[in-house]
Amino acid sequence: MLLSVENLTVRIGKVEPLSGLSFTLDRGEILGLVGESGSGKSLTAMAVTGLLPLIGGRISAGSVVFDGTDLAALPEARLRPYRGKRIALVTQNPMTALDPVQRVGDQVDIMARLHLGMDAKAARARTVDLLNRLRIPESRTVCDAYPHQLSGGMKQRIVIAMALAAEPDLIVADEPTTALDVTVQAQIIHILGELVRERGLALMLITHDMGVVAQVCDRVAVLYAGRLAETREAGPLFARPRHPYTRALIDCIPREGMAPGSLTGIPGLVPSVAQYPAGCRFHPRCLHADAACQQVPEARPQADGGSVSCHHPMEADHG
Ligand SMILES: Nc1ncnc2c1ncn2[C@@H]1O[C@H](COP(=O)(O)OP(=O)(O)OP(=O)(O)O)[C@@H](O)[C@H]1O
Ligand code: SF4
Ligand SMILES: [Mg+2]
Repeated sequence: MLLSVENLTVRIGKVEPLSGLSFTLDRGEILGLVGESGSGKSLTAMAVTGLLPLIGGRISAGSVVFDGTDLAALPEARLRPYRGKRIALVTQNPMTALDPVQRVGDQVDIMARLHLGMDAKAARARTVDLLNRLRIPESRTVCDAYPHQLSGGMKQRIVIAMALAAEPDLIVADEPTTALDVTVQAQIIHILGELVRERGLALMLITHDMGVVAQVCDRVAVLYAGRLAETREAGPLFARPRHPYTRALIDCIPREGMAPGSLTGIPGLVPSVAQYPAGCRFHPRCLHADAACQQVPEARPQADGGSVSCHHPMEADHG
């Protein structure tokens, strides 16, 4: 297993926004990390990429074992060889990763020069190849452009090329296409998926879009209010969701033939970290809640792999 996260718990000052998350990811696999806004997806990404100190957070319990090394136990100085090189982060806003006054080709080249020790010519050849693979037209000319001369979709492809250029083992993509229009989003995610499989990388894909997850992910981890609701292989999870929250998220995916306006969403909101309810944190919004749900549900291992944290998991086929 390339990445094995066990009981991951995060503290920021006095609050504990993430508690006891466990999930795994192997080479050549795509894990979808899903949940409504505020469920803890970005904090999980920051914990895995070693960036929590930037926001005053820390891993207070659990482990993040990457290729045999527990990153949670490493001092800052020993995390550096992992960050950017072996584990790359792609975020929603490409301008946080791009330097506005440097030509984009140079910004991709530098990754291979820095991390792989390539000379300028070899690095540029690789950059052009990567841009071609990301279906950027006239890639040689694009290399000479500055970020402001490119569309949002092109800029995000450049950021993905930068992440790939260092030949990482794991890419963590936090809403990589949310700022783009829908057709560009789908295209970029599909290309990223193809490259991940071809190169045997692992991808943790964070998205609000359950439709995208159903199409490209092998495995899914569903977060709710800082805890893991369910994690399983994507096929069985979509066919037979066991956690009521997973089921509700799947019911929000627009389907063909659905009457306009029939999408109801899930009533209520994810509680803020200061107001996490006792017991199962989903109970105020759950149609199946009863007295047992006043206790925190343990993660129950499932016969088909993964786990479900619910006192009353559903078994029926989803129809
Ligand atoms: N720096 C911080 N200090 C305190 N609490 C924080 C901090 N950053 C995030 N949180 C809290 O942690 C919880 C999870 O936040 P996170 O940003 O991981 O959610 P998310 O799932 O990425 O949401 P979104 O879909 O909106 O990006 C939220 O309740 C949020 O308010
Ligand atoms: S533990 Fe209870 S409240 Fe929580 S999801 Fe399961 S049935 Fe609903
Ligand atoms: Mg987020």
